[in-house]
Amino acid sequence: MLPWFRNQFPIYLAPMAGVTDVTFRTLCKELGADVMVTEFVSAEGILRADHRTRRYTTFTDSQRPVGIQLFGANGSRMGEAAKKIIEWKRPDFIDLNFGCPVNKVVSKNGGSSLLKDCPLLVDTASKIVKAVGDEVPVTGKIRIGWDQNSVNAPTVCRLLEDTGIQAIAVHGRTRAQGYRGEADWEVIDQCAQSVGIPIIGNGDIDSAQTLKDRKEKTSVSGVMIGRAAMHNPWIFSEAKSYLQSGTLPPPPSMETRWSFIIRHCRLAVESDRYGTEKHTLMAMRSRLMTYCKGFPGAKPLRQQLSQVLSIAEVEDIAAQNSQLTYQQSD
Ligand SMILES: Cc1cc2nc3c(=O)[nH]c(=O)nc-3n(C[C@H](O)[C@H](O)[C@H](O)COP(=O)(O)O)c2cc1C
Repeated sequence: MLPWFRNQFPIYLAPMAGVTDVTFRTLCKELGADVMVTEFVSAEGILRADHRTRRYTTFTDSQRPVGIQLFGANGSRMGEAAKKIIEWKRPDFIDLNFGCPVNKVVSKNGGSSLLKDCPLLVDTASKIVKAVGDEVPVTGKIRIGWDQNSVNAPTVCRLLEDTGIQAIAVHGRTRAQGYRGEADWEVIDQCAQSVGIPIIGNGDIDSAQTLKDRKEKTSVSGVMIGRAAMHNPWIFSEAKSYLQSGTLPPPPSMETRWSFIIRHCRLAVESDRYGTEKHTLMAMRSRLMTYCKGFPGAKPLRQQLSQVLSIAEVEDIAAQNSQLTYQQSD
């Protein structure tokens, strides 16, 4: 049993390429996220030791337990890459991406395409688990199937369990759905009831109340939160409080929210992930706009934030807006 499931119900921050970089992971950890997974990285990128891949896999000790997520199309190469990244970074676990819907990944037999080919999925996972040996645990992340006519997640979970995979995050949508429709928590629950390893439920958890409901009505051993954390990173502390006492802390004030946003910008510049301050702020514009959900005057604010080039500009916008009251909805 992975130690973070022992007598606990861990709340994972979902891996999100371009979003859950080292900075955002630090912030979410502070707010109560228990387990982190890096943005996915290509096994081939690791084998080439390219600069970008190294940056994507950066994490700090305070973020542990943290997993590095790999995608690829060839089990032997992914096994080699896993060994190499373990040697470089010493993550707590390796996570295998069997859920990515993106054409560029799927067309090369990576990500969710393996859900259509169970023998290849088993071969790929087995090779990686064997290559990693007992260095660190290997986990997986899947969708519930390729499309509505081939929902096979419970079978896939059983097959992956037999390969030695030690936990599986199940996003309750098919590849064909992309991010449309609702996550199917009945299938997620069937997965949890089909295997002995922990299943982490993922999809559409957007509040502490939803999280508690999923915990109580399904057999999952933990949950994973993605998009909701992008505009409400306090969801982790809210959920913990709600699970523990049934009460929610008061919503963060506008002042707290703007301080958080400015700190996010500062840490991102310091992390050097996106280059100069100007390049970092340009890379962060859409992230900053996402934070505005529920802010008074969100529309003009988004317009302003879509043009920022420096932290000073964000500070000016914050100074003009900090005294307003948060409204819960946009
Ligand atoms: C911008 C973005 C990037 C993502 N990148 C990854 C990724 O690198 N690896 C992965 O397994 N899933 C990735 N996902 C999927 C999420 O981890 C998660 O499964 C999905 O967003 C559903 O959870 P949610 O409803 O809580 O957002 C990404 C999702 C988004 C929105």
